[in-house]
Amino acid sequence: MIVTKSIEEVRSFVNEKKKEGLSVGFVPTMGYLHEGHASLLKESKKENDITILSIYVNPTQFGPNEDLSSYPRDMERDCKIAEEEGVDLVFTPTDDVLYPGNYKTYVYVEGLTNTLCGRSRPTHFRGVTTIVTKLFNIVAPHNAYFGQKDAQQYFVLNRMATDLNMDICLKSCPIIREEDGLAKSSRNVYLNEKERQQATILNKSLNEAVNKVKEGERSSLEIVEGIRSTINSMDLANIDYVEIVDTETMQQIDEIKNKVLIAIAVKFGNTRLIDNRILEV
Ligand code: PAJ
Repeated sequence: MIVTKSIEEVRSFVNEKKKEGLSVGFVPTMGYLHEGHASLLKESKKENDITILSIYVNPTQFGPNEDLSSYPRDMERDCKIAEEEGVDLVFTPTDDVLYPGNYKTYVYVEGLTNTLCGRSRPTHFRGVTTIVTKLFNIVAPHNAYFGQKDAQQYFVLNRMATDLNMDICLKSCPIIREEDGLAKSSRNVYLNEKERQQATILNKSLNEAVNKVKEGERSSLEIVEGIRSTINSMDLANIDYVEIVDTETMQQIDEIKNKVLIAIAVKFGNTRLIDNRILEV
Protein backbone atom coordinates (compact mmCIF):
# COMPACT_ATOMS: atom_id res chain seq x y z
CA MET A 1 0.00 0.00 0.00
CA ILE A 2 1.33 3.40 -1.01
CA VAL A 3 0.93 6.27 1.48
CA THR A 4 1.69 9.67 -0.03
CA LYS A 5 1.21 13.42 0.49
CA SER A 6 2.17 14.08 -3.13
CA ILE A 7 -0.45 15.14 -5.69
CA GLU A 8 1.94 14.17 -8.50
CA GLU A 9 2.39 10.66 -7.11
CA VAL A 10 -1.38 10.15 -6.90
CA ARG A 11 -1.81 11.39 -10.47
CA SER A 12 0.89 9.19 -11.97
CA PHE A 13 -0.34 6.13 -10.00
CA VAL A 14 -3.92 6.61 -11.24
CA ASN A 15 -2.82 7.37 -14.82
CA GLU A 16 -0.80 4.18 -14.94
CA LYS A 17 -3.67 2.06 -13.61
CA LYS A 18 -6.11 3.63 -16.05
CA LYS A 19 -3.72 2.92 -18.93
CA GLU A 20 -3.83 -0.73 -17.86
CA GLY A 21 -7.62 -0.54 -18.22
CA LEU A 22 -8.29 -0.77 -14.47
CA SER A 23 -11.20 0.95 -12.73
CA VAL A 24 -10.56 3.33 -9.85
CA GLY A 25 -12.76 3.80 -6.76
CA PHE A 26 -12.24 6.66 -4.32
CA VAL A 27 -13.25 7.11 -0.67
CA PRO A 28 -12.65 10.63 0.71
CA THR A 29 -12.51 10.87 4.53
CA MET A 30 -11.26 13.04 7.36
CA GLY A 31 -9.67 9.99 9.01
CA TYR A 32 -10.10 8.47 12.49
CA LEU A 33 -11.56 5.58 10.58
CA HIS A 34 -14.33 3.34 11.91
CA GLU A 35 -16.55 0.62 10.45
CA GLY A 36 -18.62 3.25 8.60
CA HIS A 37 -15.57 4.31 6.59
CA ALA A 38 -14.51 0.66 6.22
CA SER A 39 -17.90 -0.17 4.67
CA LEU A 40 -17.24 2.41 1.94
CA LEU A 41 -13.79 0.92 1.30
CA LYS A 42 -15.35 -2.56 1.06
CA GLU A 43 -17.93 -1.31 -1.46
CA SER A 44 -15.20 0.36 -3.51
CA LYS A 45 -13.09 -2.82 -3.44
CA LYS A 46 -16.09 -4.82 -4.61
CA GLU A 47 -16.82 -2.54 -7.57
CA ASN A 48 -13.33 -1.41 -8.68
CA ASP A 49 -9.89 -2.81 -9.44
CA ILE A 50 -8.10 -0.07 -7.49
CA THR A 51 -9.22 1.70 -4.30
CA ILE A 52 -7.87 5.05 -3.18
CA LEU A 53 -8.53 6.53 0.28
CA SER A 54 -7.90 10.15 1.18
CA ILE A 55 -7.42 11.30 4.76
CA TYR A 56 -7.58 15.05 5.22
CA VAL A 57 -9.21 17.15 7.94
CA ASN A 58 -10.43 19.92 5.66
CA PRO A 59 -10.25 23.32 7.41
CA THR A 60 -12.65 25.12 5.02
CA GLN A 61 -15.64 23.01 6.11
CA PHE A 62 -15.27 23.90 9.81
CA GLY A 63 -16.87 27.07 11.20
CA PRO A 64 -14.82 29.45 13.40
CA ASN A 65 -16.19 27.97 16.65
CA GLU A 66 -16.13 24.33 15.55
CA ASP A 67 -13.80 21.45 16.42
CA LEU A 68 -11.09 21.73 13.71
CA SER A 69 -8.16 21.75 16.14
CA SER A 70 -9.58 19.02 18.39
CA TYR A 71 -10.92 16.79 15.57
CA PRO A 72 -9.62 13.27 16.40
CA ARG A 73 -6.60 12.14 14.37
CA ASP A 74 -4.65 8.85 14.32
CA MET A 75 -2.82 8.36 11.03
CA GLU A 76 -0.97 5.21 12.13
CA ARG A 77 -4.15 3.39 13.12
CA ASP A 78 -5.94 4.65 9.97
CA CYS A 79 -3.18 3.24 7.75
CA LYS A 80 -3.45 -0.13 9.51
CA ILE A 81 -7.20 -0.22 8.84
CA ALA A 82 -6.65 0.87 5.22
CA GLU A 83 -4.11 -1.92 4.74
CA GLU A 84 -6.52 -4.49 6.23
CA GLU A 85 -9.24 -3.29 3.86
CA GLY A 86 -6.92 -3.73 0.87
CA VAL A 87 -6.58 -0.06 -0.05
CA ASP A 88 -4.02 0.49 -2.82
CA LEU A 89 -3.09 4.10 -2.11
CA VAL A 90 -3.71 6.46 0.82
CA PHE A 91 -3.53 10.16 -0.05
CA THR A 92 -2.67 12.32 2.99
CA PRO A 93 -2.29 15.87 1.70
CA THR A 94 -1.34 18.87 3.86
CA ASP A 95 -2.91 22.33 4.22
CA ASP A 96 -0.04 24.19 2.53
CA VAL A 97 -0.40 22.07 -0.62
CA LEU A 98 -4.22 22.22 -0.84
CA TYR A 99 -4.75 25.77 0.41
CA PRO A 100 -1.60 27.83 -0.22
CA GLY A 101 -1.54 31.49 0.91
CA ASN A 102 -2.87 32.84 -2.37
CA TYR A 103 -5.86 30.43 -2.49
CA LYS A 104 -9.04 32.10 -3.82
CA THR A 105 -11.42 29.57 -5.43
CA TYR A 106 -14.54 27.95 -3.95
CA VAL A 107 -17.32 25.74 -5.29
CA TYR A 108 -20.81 26.54 -4.00
CA VAL A 109 -24.10 24.69 -4.54
CA GLU A 110 -27.11 26.99 -4.16
CA GLY A 111 -30.45 26.16 -2.50
CA LEU A 112 -29.66 22.68 -1.19
CA THR A 113 -27.19 24.08 1.32
CA ASN A 114 -29.34 26.54 3.29
CA THR A 115 -31.41 23.96 5.22
CA LEU A 116 -30.61 21.22 7.76
CA CYS A 117 -26.86 21.30 8.57
CA GLY A 118 -26.42 24.35 6.32
CA ARG A 119 -28.60 26.47 8.61
CA SER A 120 -26.42 26.10 11.69
CA ARG A 121 -23.19 25.64 9.67
CA PRO A 122 -23.50 28.33 6.93
CA THR A 123 -20.02 27.86 5.40
CA HIS A 124 -19.80 24.09 5.88
CA PHE A 125 -21.03 22.84 2.49
CA ARG A 126 -18.98 25.39 0.55
CA GLY A 127 -15.94 23.82 2.21
CA VAL A 128 -17.12 20.27 1.45
CA THR A 129 -17.92 20.93 -2.23
CA THR A 130 -14.61 22.77 -2.67
CA ILE A 131 -12.43 20.05 -1.15
CA VAL A 132 -14.27 17.22 -2.89
CA THR A 133 -13.88 19.00 -6.25
CA LYS A 134 -10.16 19.39 -5.58
CA LEU A 135 -9.81 15.74 -4.55
CA PHE A 136 -11.81 14.60 -7.60
CA ASN A 137 -9.48 16.67 -9.82
CA ILE A 138 -6.43 15.08 -8.23
CA VAL A 139 -7.61 11.46 -8.02
CA ALA A 140 -9.88 11.45 -11.10
CA PRO A 141 -11.67 8.24 -10.06
CA HIS A 142 -14.40 6.42 -11.97
CA ASN A 143 -16.50 5.95 -8.81
CA ALA A 144 -16.62 7.75 -5.46
CA TYR A 145 -18.23 6.40 -2.26
CA PHE A 146 -20.11 8.35 0.41
CA GLY A 147 -22.19 7.39 3.46
CA GLN A 148 -25.91 8.02 3.89
CA LYS A 149 -24.88 9.09 7.41
CA ASP A 150 -24.20 12.52 5.88
CA ALA A 151 -27.24 12.42 3.61
CA GLN A 152 -27.36 16.14 2.79
CA GLN A 153 -23.65 16.04 1.93
CA TYR A 154 -24.30 13.24 -0.58
CA PHE A 155 -27.25 15.03 -2.21
CA VAL A 156 -25.28 18.30 -2.44
CA LEU A 157 -22.21 16.55 -3.92
CA ASN A 158 -24.35 14.63 -6.37
CA ARG A 159 -25.98 17.90 -7.52
CA MET A 160 -22.52 19.45 -7.90
CA ALA A 161 -21.14 16.52 -9.92
CA THR A 162 -24.16 16.60 -12.23
CA ASP A 163 -24.23 20.39 -12.62
CA LEU A 164 -20.47 20.63 -13.29
CA ASN A 165 -20.50 17.65 -15.70
CA MET A 166 -18.02 15.68 -13.62
CA ASP A 167 -17.34 12.29 -15.16
CA ILE A 168 -17.52 10.48 -11.82
CA CYS A 169 -20.25 8.23 -10.46
CA LEU A 170 -21.17 9.03 -6.84
CA LYS A 171 -22.50 6.17 -4.72
CA SER A 172 -24.33 6.33 -1.40
CA CYS A 173 -23.79 3.51 1.12
CA PRO A 174 -25.95 2.55 4.16
CA ILE A 175 -25.38 3.93 7.68
CA ILE A 176 -23.28 1.63 9.87
CA ARG A 177 -24.35 1.63 13.53
CA GLU A 178 -23.14 0.54 16.96
CA GLU A 179 -25.00 -2.42 18.49
CA ASP A 180 -27.33 -0.08 20.37
CA GLY A 181 -28.22 1.80 17.18
CA LEU A 182 -26.03 4.91 17.51
CA ALA A 183 -24.64 5.78 14.07
CA LYS A 184 -20.85 5.33 14.03
CA SER A 185 -19.02 8.64 13.94
CA SER A 186 -15.48 9.87 14.56
CA ARG A 187 -17.08 12.42 16.91
CA ASN A 188 -18.63 9.75 19.20
CA VAL A 189 -15.32 9.69 21.14
CA TYR A 190 -16.19 13.13 22.52
CA LEU A 191 -19.24 11.76 24.41
CA ASN A 192 -19.00 11.02 28.13
CA GLU A 193 -20.67 7.89 29.50
CA LYS A 194 -24.04 9.50 30.26
CA GLU A 195 -24.15 11.38 26.94
CA ARG A 196 -23.22 8.19 25.10
CA GLN A 197 -26.14 6.33 26.74
CA GLN A 198 -28.62 9.10 25.97
CA ALA A 199 -27.39 9.45 22.37
CA THR A 200 -29.18 6.22 21.43
CA ILE A 201 -32.38 8.33 21.44
CA LEU A 202 -31.55 9.63 17.94
CA ASN A 203 -32.00 6.25 16.26
CA LYS A 204 -34.96 5.37 18.49
CA SER A 205 -36.80 8.59 17.64
CA LEU A 206 -36.27 7.92 13.92
CA ASN A 207 -37.53 4.34 14.26
CA GLU A 208 -40.70 5.65 15.90
CA ALA A 209 -41.12 8.18 13.09
CA VAL A 210 -40.73 5.52 10.39
CA ASN A 211 -43.32 3.34 12.14
CA LYS A 212 -45.81 6.22 12.25
CA VAL A 213 -45.34 6.85 8.52
CA LYS A 214 -45.80 3.11 7.86
CA GLU A 215 -49.06 3.28 9.84
CA GLY A 216 -50.28 6.05 7.51
CA GLU A 217 -49.27 9.35 9.13
CA ARG A 218 -48.42 11.88 6.37
CA SER A 219 -48.17 15.14 8.30
CA SER A 220 -44.57 16.34 8.63
CA LEU A 221 -45.54 18.47 11.61
CA GLU A 222 -46.90 15.43 13.50
CA ILE A 223 -43.80 13.37 12.76
CA VAL A 224 -41.41 16.20 13.63
CA GLU A 225 -43.26 16.89 16.93
CA GLY A 226 -43.08 13.18 17.79
CA ILE A 227 -39.32 13.05 17.18
CA ARG A 228 -38.80 16.26 19.17
CA SER A 229 -40.70 15.04 22.22
CA THR A 230 -38.91 11.65 22.19
CA ILE A 231 -35.50 13.34 22.01
CA ASN A 232 -36.45 15.89 24.66
CA SER A 233 -37.14 13.04 27.11
CA MET A 234 -33.34 12.96 27.51
CA ASP A 235 -32.14 15.73 29.81
CA LEU A 236 -28.74 16.13 28.11
CA ALA A 237 -30.13 16.38 24.57
CA ASN A 238 -30.25 19.79 22.92
CA ILE A 239 -31.98 19.72 19.51
CA ASP A 240 -30.34 21.67 16.67
CA TYR A 241 -32.92 20.61 14.07
CA VAL A 242 -35.54 18.00 13.22
CA GLU A 243 -36.63 18.45 9.61
CA ILE A 244 -38.38 16.55 6.85
CA VAL A 245 -37.25 17.64 3.39
CA ASP A 246 -37.67 16.64 -0.24
CA THR A 247 -34.54 14.79 -1.38
CA GLU A 248 -34.28 16.79 -4.63
CA THR A 249 -34.52 20.28 -3.13
CA MET A 250 -33.57 19.76 0.54
CA GLN A 251 -36.49 22.11 1.34
CA GLN A 252 -39.04 21.35 4.07
CA ILE A 253 -42.32 19.77 3.05
CA ASP A 254 -45.68 19.74 4.83
CA GLU A 255 -46.95 16.41 3.52
CA ILE A 256 -44.87 13.24 3.41
CA LYS A 257 -44.90 11.95 -0.17
CA ASN A 258 -42.49 10.68 -2.84
CA LYS A 259 -38.93 10.46 -1.54
CA VAL A 260 -38.21 12.32 1.70
CA LEU A 261 -35.30 12.72 4.09
CA ILE A 262 -36.03 12.84 7.81
CA ALA A 263 -32.91 14.39 9.29
CA ILE A 264 -31.97 15.31 12.84
CA ALA A 265 -29.05 17.01 14.57
CA VAL A 266 -28.77 16.95 18.35
CA LYS A 267 -26.13 18.31 20.68
CA PHE A 268 -24.97 16.46 23.78
CA GLY A 269 -22.73 18.92 25.60
CA ASN A 270 -20.48 20.30 22.86
CA THR A 271 -20.86 17.23 20.63
CA ARG A 272 -23.24 17.56 17.72
CA LEU A 273 -24.59 14.26 16.36
CA ILE A 274 -26.61 13.69 13.19
CA ASP A 275 -28.78 10.83 11.95
CA ASN A 276 -31.48 10.32 9.32
CA ARG A 277 -33.83 8.07 7.40
CA ILE A 278 -34.73 8.20 3.71
CA LEU A 279 -38.30 7.12 3.00
CA GLU A 280 -40.19 6.50 -0.22
CA VAL A 281 -43.96 6.64 0.19
P1 PAJ B 1 -15.91 11.90 7.26
O1 PAJ B 1 -16.80 12.46 8.31
O2 PAJ B 1 -14.59 11.32 7.67
O3 PAJ B 1 -16.72 10.80 6.48
C1 PAJ B 1 -16.19 10.19 5.34
C2 PAJ B 1 -17.28 9.36 4.70
O4 PAJ B 1 -17.68 8.32 5.59
C3 PAJ B 1 -18.55 10.20 4.39
O5 PAJ B 1 -19.04 9.86 3.10
C4 PAJ B 1 -19.50 9.76 5.50
O6 PAJ B 1 -20.87 9.87 5.13
C5 PAJ B 1 -19.09 8.30 5.68
N1 PAJ B 1 -19.52 7.81 7.01
C6 PAJ B 1 -19.28 8.38 8.21
N2 PAJ B 1 -19.90 7.67 9.18
C7 PAJ B 1 -20.56 6.66 8.58
C8 PAJ B 1 -21.40 5.59 9.04
N3 PAJ B 1 -21.68 5.43 10.34
N4 PAJ B 1 -21.91 4.73 8.12
C9 PAJ B 1 -21.63 4.88 6.80
N5 PAJ B 1 -20.85 5.87 6.30
C10 PAJ B 1 -20.32 6.74 7.17
O7 PAJ B 1 -17.68 13.36 5.34
C11 PAJ B 1 -16.52 13.73 5.45
O8 PAJ B 1 -15.58 13.04 6.16
C12 PAJ B 1 -16.01 14.98 4.77
O9 PAJ B 1 -17.03 15.94 4.69
C13 PAJ B 1 -15.42 14.73 3.34
C14 PAJ B 1 -16.48 14.19 2.38
C15 PAJ B 1 -14.24 13.76 3.43
C16 PAJ B 1 -14.89 16.08 2.78
O10 PAJ B 1 -13.92 16.63 3.62
